[in-house]
Amino acid sequence: MGINIAIDGPSGAGKSTLSRKLAERLNYIYVDTGALYRTVGLYILRKKIDPSDVEKVEAALPEIEVSLRYINGEQYVYLNGEDVSSDIRIHEVSQYASLVSAVPAVRRFLFETQRRLAEEHDVIMDGRDIGTVVLPDAEVKIFLTASAEVRAQRRYNELLERGQQVSYKQVLADVCRRDEQDMNRSVAPLKPAEDSVIVDTSDCSFDESLALLYQTVQERLRRP
Ligand code: DC
Repeated sequence: MGINIAIDGPSGAGKSTLSRKLAERLNYIYVDTGALYRTVGLYILRKKIDPSDVEKVEAALPEIEVSLRYINGEQYVYLNGEDVSSDIRIHEVSQYASLVSAVPAVRRFLFETQRRLAEEHDVIMDGRDIGTVVLPDAEVKIFLTASAEVRAQRRYNELLERGQQVSYKQVLADVCRRDEQDMNRSVAPLKPAEDSVIVDTSDCSFDESLALLYQTVQERLRRP
């Protein structure tokens, strides 16, 4: 087992950008587990399957092969051999990912991929259930959060930068809906692990958040 750092939290808390930077600094591999759920979501969307139909989603899983590759520290995700790293970022896929992630068979399907990476490398893994389910023995567990408004604003800016046409109001509504779904599902709901450090970045700039995270990780790793 490598050294494992688990970073969980709601969407838009800055997990992926902060985790990526932190991994760079520590020379760890950054594993974005949301990308795995997004890839399953993308397949379901392309096949026009209802993402809330548990049986149909489960039946589609044998047709799906998801793999990750790391090139210069960047994570690329493949769906049946096709690089879908940018396709999984479209707005519509977020909602599909959230819905398929509530299907227990989907979580089981992706569990091994996540465990294997953590066994083979020093990782910073971000997601919703990393500290609670996937890596319960992680050396450091962080629950990264921010207010829904701040998270929606960040997501909105990100989507604008990618040239997507959305309104702030719509993004805020989507953030709240996904929080609701991710926190209230019966399997692996989004919640802080008991031994996690809660880091709230609502009032922090990116650099302040990164410094805070780095310090938290260093303190925890130094503990016997
Ligand atoms: O982090 P993200 O927004 O890319 O994740 C997309 C969806 O996947 C999110 O709504 C919840 C789900 N997810 C999950 O259930 N467990 C994880 N470890 C990561 C993501």
